[in-house]
Amino acid sequence: MKTVRFGIIGCGLMGREFASAAARWCHLAAMDVRPEIVAVCDANPMFSGWFSERFASVRQVTQDYRELLANPEVDAVYIAVPHNLHEEFICAAIAAGKHVMAEKPFGIDLAAGRQIMACLKKHPGVFVRCSSESPFFPAVQRIGKMLENGAFGQIIEANTGFLHSSDFDPEKPINWKRIVEFNGEYGVMGDLGLHACHAGFRAGWVPDNVRALLSNIVRERPDGKGGRVPCLTWDNATLLCETTNPAGGERFPWTIKTQRIAPGQKNNWYIEILGTRASVRWSSVHVDILEVMTCQGGDQVWGQIQTGHETAFKTVTGNIFQFGFTDSILQMWAAFLHELHHGKPAQRFAGCATPEEALLSHRLFTAALESQKECRVATVLVPYEPVSVINNTLFANIQQGISNKKGAVSQKP
Ligand SMILES: NC(=O)c1ccc[n+]([C@@H]2O[C@H](COP(=O)([O-])OP(=O)(O)OC[C@H]3O[C@@H](n4cnc5c(N)ncnc54)[C@H](O)[C@@H]3O)[C@@H](O)[C@H]2O)c1
Repeated sequence: MKTVRFGIIGCGLMGREFASAAARWCHLAAMDVRPEIVAVCDANPMFSGWFSERFASVRQVTQDYRELLANPEVDAVYIAVPHNLHEEFICAAIAAGKHVMAEKPFGIDLAAGRQIMACLKKHPGVFVRCSSESPFFPAVQRIGKMLENGAFGQIIEANTGFLHSSDFDPEKPINWKRIVEFNGEYGVMGDLGLHACHAGFRAGWVPDNVRALLSNIVRERPDGKGGRVPCLTWDNATLLCETTNPAGGERFPWTIKTQRIAPGQKNNWYIEILGTRASVRWSSVHVDILEVMTCQGGDQVWGQIQTGHETAFKTVTGNIFQFGFTDSILQMWAAFLHELHHGKPAQRFAGCATPEEALLSHRLFTAALESQKECRVATVLVPYEPVSVINNTLFANIQQGISNKKGAVSQKP
């Protein structure tokens, strides 16, 4: 079993999720590579202390990420810090020759995303991926296979999203995720957007244009010190996009919703694809239920498949048992390590988000901001040249998108 020695930079919520996944690596039944956490870094020593108390393998604890990157014992890093720090930390890690799993949105804005890409171009030997666990739910894995097999026929429309209620309580004190300086202009799109786009991007859906409707619902929050401060980030976003199915060439509407204030929702991903031959709908509210509609003898029949624990990476859990959030995190990490070790994803829909997919999300969210500001449809500018590790389907479709867009109305550099 090959061991990859990891440093974690940012020991908060997501840093702990990775540590927990690493600690139950034995849950994965057929891996030939495993992570070992040897170094941790957090600006607040209270958070890194949690790791050193629980993981005997941690030999370096620091408040300075540069010290961690200088550690020759560290092969790879997980970067899970506020968005304003992504560009600096990710670029430094790449330049230090460490393999990188970094959190979304992978740079606070498009300029940061471009800088990360430029840095990656200079260090093509480094393996870099962006965290996004949504495709690893068994139902989404099934939908991925259906997309690969052309099971939908002509796609009529797609609706994907991530809805939660973290900020439903207007009295919840503000934190960095609700402050533009740390979270970014994208607001909720930076928080949740890649989750809602990842499977579609992997299918080769590249939005050509977008009409965005963004809402700032709670405009003021307690500051945690007895006062109140303005809360300027977008809480909810609806993006109506036009895209093309690379399999059939048809254009179709793709609506992407991300909401931090979604009444009745706790923390739910959903995906719905309506096609001429088959349709599906799934929400993590009923995580095991994939609904599929087919035509049988002239009737439109919706059926339910209980997916259970059908995972991309085999586990010790029997197929009949339910799957959850922490399982999706474990699967995502299995995908990262598998691809790092073997040089390619286990399956098309069992790979972590690529830097190119993250950059595409930046293009989309930047166009969405433009659309909201100017109250019009905005063109999504796509990257013009492939870089580093290439997702061929995505780029083939991007090239197609470029030719489709000749003469587009609202392109901005
Ligand atoms: N994939 C997911 O499901 C998911 C869920 C939540 C958050 N995220 C992403 O993970 C990232 C981190 O979010 P989180 O929820 O873990 O936040 P968090 O606030 O819980 O943790 C961030 C950590 O970074 C540390 N930090 C801040 N400045 C630092 C510095 N200069 N050097 C070292 N450490 C520093 C903080 O002390 C904190 O412990 C964000 O990019 C966020 O969008 C992803």
